[in-house]
Amino acid sequence: MISVTNLHKHFQTFHALKGINLQVKQGEIYGFIGQNGSGKTTTMNILAGLSRPTGGKCIVAGIDVKKIKHPSDLPIGYLPEEPKFYPWMTALETLEYLGNSKNKKADPEWIKELLGWVGLFDAAHRRVGGFSRGMRQRLGIAAALLHQPRLLILDEPSSALDPEGRAEVLRLILELKEMGKTVIFSTHILNDVERVCDTVGIIAGGKMLLEKPLKAIQKDNLAPIFDVISPKPWPAEVKQKLLQLPGVKRVEIRGVTAAITVEDAKTASIRLMHFLSKEELAISKFRQRKHTLEDIFLQEVKAT
Ligand SMILES: Nc1ncnc2c1ncn2[C@@H]1O[C@H](COP(=O)(O)OP(=O)(O)OP(=O)(O)O)[C@@H](O)[C@H]1O
Ligand SMILES: [Mg+2]
Repeated sequence: MISVTNLHKHFQTFHALKGINLQVKQGEIYGFIGQNGSGKTTTMNILAGLSRPTGGKCIVAGIDVKKIKHPSDLPIGYLPEEPKFYPWMTALETLEYLGNSKNKKADPEWIKELLGWVGLFDAAHRRVGGFSRGMRQRLGIAAALLHQPRLLILDEPSSALDPEGRAEVLRLILELKEMGKTVIFSTHILNDVERVCDTVGIIAGGKMLLEKPLKAIQKDNLAPIFDVISPKPWPAEVKQKLLQLPGVKRVEIRGVTAAITVEDAKTASIRLMHFLSKEELAISKFRQRKHTLEDIFLQEVKAT
């Protein structure tokens, strides 16, 4: 659905995107993550046809973004980072206005359905100026869907919202996938990505650090760690002994907790159990740590 190769963007002397490669497959939810200023909005504006690349190739829904005359030539729905609406218009008027401003006219029945779907049916006749952030964001998602695009590009749809508002937006994103849409959304909230994404792309300093299915990232990108807790402080010599076991890469002991990084979880767990019983070391807890995307993100960003 999206294929970006060696994308560059210069703002006068500033080199904001330094050769981005990115692939979004049809029907998936793609989480585009990066810290402030990493280049997420710059990339997404190019994908939406709002800004011209200064180098590289960018195919969106089969169309080369360099060849379009107007952003509306792209069959996509776009939610900008800070959607702006006329405060005096009602939600219904806003969607009617936005739906008809392009060379297409949105179906009035579809507009009503959309308002219901984003949970704004009861607020349809209220002025947008009085809307909460969450309501504005949901109205923005409805606006992106006015012309029934198959691809949605959402710039930070959930970042500025409270947990309830975020959960609501994430639910809508999951439903978009159920409807057969393809979604790419940016965020710096890694927990949101873990909850809904199929594929994750990490950008830092205008470069892609990693792009992989979420499941593969969770499996491949971090060595397994076992946290072993003893009812009393560990004897001093344990660290050296553990390090001598095959497959043990690192040992960190803090008080009663030993954090043991290993190569392979399965063989290491058997070996560790065997070692602990042989040394007659009592343990109160033995568990493999569950890594979060945050661990992986920090590890990748630190490595640059
Ligand atoms: N129009 C512009 N002119 C000059 N520099 C720009 C322009 N737009 C963006 N930049 C710079 O490009 C870099 C990437 O900005 P961008 O807005 O893409 O980051 P972002 O990842 O979306 O950040 P945030 O999480 O804060 O939204 C930043 O250093 C920014 O200052
Ligand atoms: Mg941004």
